[in-house]
Amino acid sequence: MNKQLRKAVIAGNWKMNKTPAEATELINAIKAELDGKKTDGCEIVACVPYVDIANAVEAAKGSPIHIGAENVHWEKSGAYTGEISADMLKECGVEYVIIGHSERRQYFGETDGTVNKRVHAALEAGLKVILCVGELLTEREQGVTAEIVAKQTKIALLGVTAEQLKNVIIAYEPVWAIGTGKTATADQANEVCGAIRMVIGGLYGLKAAAGITIQYGGSMNAKNASELLAKEHVDGGLIGGASLKAPDFGVIIAAAQ
Ligand code: 13P
Repeated sequence: MNKQLRKAVIAGNWKMNKTPAEATELINAIKAELDGKKTDGCEIVACVPYVDIANAVEAAKGSPIHIGAENVHWEKSGAYTGEISADMLKECGVEYVIIGHSERRQYFGETDGTVNKRVHAALEAGLKVILCVGELLTEREQGVTAEIVAKQTKIALLGVTAEQLKNVIIAYEPVWAIGTGKTATADQANEVCGAIRMVIGGLYGLKAAAGITIQYGGSMNAKNASELLAKEHVDGGLIGGASLKAPDFGVIIAAAQ
């Protein structure tokens, strides 16, 4: 399970922040932060609101920053008012998409079943998926964290082939650590990322398990990133609040080199 085999991925999740003009400014600020620094040790992604995509893609041109979306619908087209398809994202220059974020599960009725449908739609359109899994505080206290993330991972990946899995990153985001300032300890993060890797091993074999990128997310910041990223099973981060501050995001990217 050699960590060196895997590409670290540092992804920002901007959530519902930044207007298009502010998106241009933030991407430019991140570019300025990265200027002259080593960046090839990790893939850098900014997942932005739909309306920011055009500006973010334009601003990121010629830089190591890849642009992602924060959700995608599972149908190709049709009467789904307010939704956005994978083909639409692809045509706008989007490369990554977050699927199954806990905020979508909590506030927008996302289920493991709809996560699975979105994963298929994204992969079929040629997008890379950042699949989010994670337990609630009550579930951690009940001692069922490993079972919860295993269930979420298995259902999300139903019908996904080993070849398609190469375009899937998993983000372990304990719900109690998101936006709360409470980070999982590096050991807690490593333990659950390792458990997810075992689930992938069971489904796709050891080689796939050794190769898949598993991120940690939940109050990752400029101070705690290097300790988290040093852990064997933590191959990157999905970062909310700290990704909106270019200097902090730059420190996290430097920690992943
Ligand atoms: P915070 O980094 O703000 O806790 O958010 C984490 C997250 O939800 C990333 O998807």
